[in-house]
Amino acid sequence: MKKVRMGMIGGGQGAFIGAVHRIAAFMDGEIELVCGAFSSDKTRSITSGLSLYLPESRCYGSYEEMFKAEKLLPKDERMAFVVIVTPNHLHFPIAKAAIETGFHVLSDKPATLTLSEALALKSVIEQHDCLYGLTHTYNGYPLVKQAKHLISQGNLGNIVKVVVEYSQGWLASKEDEKSKQASWRLDPKKSGASCCMGDIGVHAANLVEYVSGLHITDLCADLTSTVAGRTLDDDGTVMLKLSNGAKGVLLASQVCLGDENNLKLRIYGDKKSIEWSQLEPNTLWLKSNTETTLQIRAGVGEMCDAAQSAMRTPPGHPEGYLEAFANIYQNFVAQIRAHNEGEKSDNLTFDVPGIEAAVRGMAFIENVVSASQSETKWHAFSLNTEITPKSMEQH
Ligand SMILES: NC(=O)c1ccc[n+]([C@@H]2O[C@H](COP(=O)([O-])OP(=O)(O)OC[C@H]3O[C@@H](n4cnc5c(N)ncnc54)[C@H](O)[C@@H]3O)[C@@H](O)[C@H]2O)c1
Repeated sequence: MKKVRMGMIGGGQGAFIGAVHRIAAFMDGEIELVCGAFSSDKTRSITSGLSLYLPESRCYGSYEEMFKAEKLLPKDERMAFVVIVTPNHLHFPIAKAAIETGFHVLSDKPATLTLSEALALKSVIEQHDCLYGLTHTYNGYPLVKQAKHLISQGNLGNIVKVVVEYSQGWLASKEDEKSKQASWRLDPKKSGASCCMGDIGVHAANLVEYVSGLHITDLCADLTSTVAGRTLDDDGTVMLKLSNGAKGVLLASQVCLGDENNLKLRIYGDKKSIEWSQLEPNTLWLKSNTETTLQIRAGVGEMCDAAQSAMRTPPGHPEGYLEAFANIYQNFVAQIRAHNEGEKSDNLTFDVPGIEAAVRGMAFIENVVSASQSETKWHAFSLNTEITPKSMEQH
């Protein structure tokens, strides 16, 4: 058994999530970084790669150059999969080129710039035997998996209400726009139809669907650019209808002063309810009107297999965001190993968000923006690109 070889696009010095990906990828000792195009500038890419102890020959000036050069290397030297951690507008061209060259892809979200690109990517994936994963980080938490399990086993009964919140405060003022991370997120050409919904609302929507096992079928949305001069939203509230008729509320905001990465999920059934918060990720509350509220702690007592295998330390030793990220890597690598053993990519159903989640995520963003621009109250959740918001047509 050899380590699985990873390449990275983006994630150079000064970038945010690339470094998090590397920590997560290395956590279980199964992956090695062998190459990268870490920046759009070749010199910066090389400096970043050298600081990660890569040879200069494997630090590239562009993803095109990297895929071409890696393909020419012997099979047991070239990268097996590429991680995409660039701004959103580059996700689609990079993922498409990687898959067409024969490399598996693990992309950060949102999957693409537009829904139409996500649908095009789906079609590329269907024509190639390559794996595609999307890092919806929060799926990786043990107690998120336990909550999903409890719901799938009927412990909550019929789901009647969902409330999901993701609030942050880091874009609350004009001053906050100066950071590298803010500048492209507020630019529709690089970010897409939405800032807040594309950045964090899409995580919240994915979490609802992942944990509940239900789909969003209709929505009513109200987006705001709270800070003057912004083209894109920095705050939004979305009412949801789910596939079993349950109602929900999704709140995402980047202007809530003092809020950290305040992701919270409450799902109410007609028998019991669950509550989970990223700020206290190793606790899951199970509640009802008649029984004592149960505090489920990660690793204590019986947990489902998916939750148990998402833990690395005995209970009480804090595990969090980095480990949740690492769990997505662990499952993606298991998928690659199974693929190497001869399994066809379509048959592999490991616990990794894939192209279906990618398409639904992009549809969520564009449906929400369209709904917010309309006077009609409820909008059927559409996977059709005709809902693409007017504001995106020029891009
Ligand atoms: N899953 C999560 O929890 C999570 C969290 C944060 C960010 N993200 C996503 O990760 C992506 C990156 O976000 P970030 O905050 O790290 O952004 P960032 O601006 O900090 O980093 C982007 C990196 O991409 C590089 N880059 C830009 N153009 C490039 C090109 N043509 N070739 C190679 N590299 C290029 C930049 O030099 C930089 O190193 C975004 O899509 C964002 O939505 C996901």
